[in-house]
Amino acid sequence: MKWLSNRYAYPLVAIAIIASIGLQAAWLLQLFHAQQVQLKRDLEQALNDASRTNDYLSVARGHEKSENFRNFFLSPEWLQTKQAFVKMRKRHVSARFESVMNDDSTFIDISLRIPEKKGVQKKRKIVRIFDKGESLETIQEADERDLKRMDSLVQKQFEKNNLNVRGYHLLHNFDTGKPEDMKLWKQSQKADYRSELYAYNIYFFLHSYQYVVPSLDNVVIYRMRYYLISSLLMLLMTGLAFYFLFRMMRSQRLYTHARLAFTGNMTHELKTPVAIIDAALDAITRYQLANEPAKLDEYVGISKTEIQRLNQIIDKVLNLDELDNGGIRLRPELYDLQQGLESVVSAMRLGNPQQLQINYLPSAEPCFVDGDPVHLTSVFYNLIDNAIKYSGKPAVITVTCRSDAKRVKITVQDEGPGIPKQYQERIFDRFFRVSDHPDIHNVKGSGLGLYYVRQIISLHKGHISVQSSSKGSIFTIDLPAYHEI
Ligand SMILES: Nc1ncnc2c1ncn2[C@@H]1O[C@H](COP(=O)(O)OP(=O)(O)OP(=O)(O)O)[C@@H](O)[C@H]1O
Ligand SMILES: [Mg+2]
Repeated sequence: MKWLSNRYAYPLVAIAIIASIGLQAAWLLQLFHAQQVQLKRDLEQALNDASRTNDYLSVARGHEKSENFRNFFLSPEWLQTKQAFVKMRKRHVSARFESVMNDDSTFIDISLRIPEKKGVQKKRKIVRIFDKGESLETIQEADERDLKRMDSLVQKQFEKNNLNVRGYHLLHNFDTGKPEDMKLWKQSQKADYRSELYAYNIYFFLHSYQYVVPSLDNVVIYRMRYYLISSLLMLLMTGLAFYFLFRMMRSQRLYTHARLAFTGNMTHELKTPVAIIDAALDAITRYQLANEPAKLDEYVGISKTEIQRLNQIIDKVLNLDELDNGGIRLRPELYDLQQGLESVVSAMRLGNPQQLQINYLPSAEPCFVDGDPVHLTSVFYNLIDNAIKYSGKPAVITVTCRSDAKRVKITVQDEGPGIPKQYQERIFDRFFRVSDHPDIHNVKGSGLGLYYVRQIISLHKGHISVQSSSKGSIFTIDLPAYHEI
C-alpha cells in the first residue's frame, strides 16, 4: 500500500473526483433535456385541454344540460378531427363546418373542397358552424371574446398542472397561415417552445392560436431541484470523504515519521544512563573503590541519578500506553493547586541550582480543583521542565495561579526562543518535537511530555493553550474550580 499512498494516491483521487463531477454533470444534462421534452409535452397537453374546453364553451350555449354534447366536444377525438381539418387547409383544401340543430339532436356536417388546380383558392368566405347571419363587427367581437377566453383557459390549465411558465400567444391568419404580428413571430423563432396551431373560434375561424414560451430553463431547473440538490450533496460528501482520507493519510505519514524519530531518541536516551552506570560500576570494581568511601559514594550517587532517569523514561512510555488505551484512571480529590505548584517549583529549584530563576506568584484566592494530585503534579513538572530545557541558560521562568468562582488558571512563562507558529498546535501531538530550534539541537526528549499534559488536562475537563513568540512562551492551563455538589 505504501507505493500507492506515496505516488499514485493523489492523482488517483483527483481523477476519481473529476470523473465523478463529470458523470454527475453528464447525467444532469441528460436529465435536463429529458425534463425539457417532458415539459413541452405537458404544455401541449395543457393547450389541448384548453382548446377543447374553449370549443365546448363556445358552442355550449343552450346545450349545457346535454351530456352527449359535452362529452363530444371535450373528447380528444373531436380535437383530433378539428386539428386534421385545420391542417388540411394548408394544402389548398378548404373545409366547411356546418351544423343543424333539432329539438333532440345536433348535426355537424364537415365537407371538404379540393380545387382542381393547385394554388387556386376561392376568395375568403367565412365558414361557420352555427351561422346566424352576424355582421363583420359582431364576428370580430366574438373572435376577441373567444381569444380572451382561450387565454384565460390556457392560464388555468397551466396553473392546474403547475406549469409556471411565462409566455405569450401568437395569432396566425386562419386561411393563409401567416402570422398577424411579424415582429412577434420573428421573436418567437428563437423561443424554446412553440405550440401547435389551435382554432379557438369554431364559429368563424378567423385566426389560429399558438402559444410561445421564450425560455423553459428556469422551469426545468425548478423541476429538477431535488436532483440538483442531491447531486450537489453527493459531490460535497465525496469531497469531504476524500478530504478526510487525505488528512488521515497525512497524519498517518507524520505519525510514522514521528515514531521513527521517537525510537531514535529513545535509543539514545536509554543508552546514555546505561553507559554511565556501566562505567561507574566498572570504576568501582576496577579501582576497588570500596576502600575509598568518598569516591564510592560519589559513583553510587551518579548511578542512582541515572537509574532515576531510566525510571522516568520507562514511566513515560508506560503512561503513553495507558493514555492510548484509555486506561488512565484518575483518582480525583480536593487538591490545592498552589501547594502542588509550590512543591514542584522548589524541587526544580533544588534540581537545577545553577543559572535558574523561577518566580512563583501565588494567588491570594484559594485555587482548589477536583483533580488527581499525582497526574497534575506530573503536568506541572513537564511544563516547568520544558521551560528550563528549552530556555537555554540563564533561564527565567514565571509561574502563576489565578482563580475565580468557576475557573482556575495556571501559567508557565519562559523567556526562551519560543515555538514557531506553524508548530504551536503540533507540539501537543505525541512524539512531535521541533527539530529546527536554532540553539537547542542537543536538548533531549521523547516528544511525549505535552501530549501527556494535554490528555491529563482534558481528562480533568480543562484546556491547555500556548502563546509564543521569539521572546518566549506562555503555557496556560484552564481548569474548572472545585465546588461542592
Ligand atoms: N517552553 C518551550 N519553549 C520552546 N519550545 C518548547 C517549549 N515547550 C515545548 N517546546 C517544544 O515542543 C516540543 C514537544 O515538547 P514535549 O514536552 O512534548 O516533548 P519533549 O520535551 O521533547 O520530550 P519529553 O517532554 O517527553 O522529555 C519540544 O520538543 C520542543 O521543541
Ligand atoms: Mg517535555
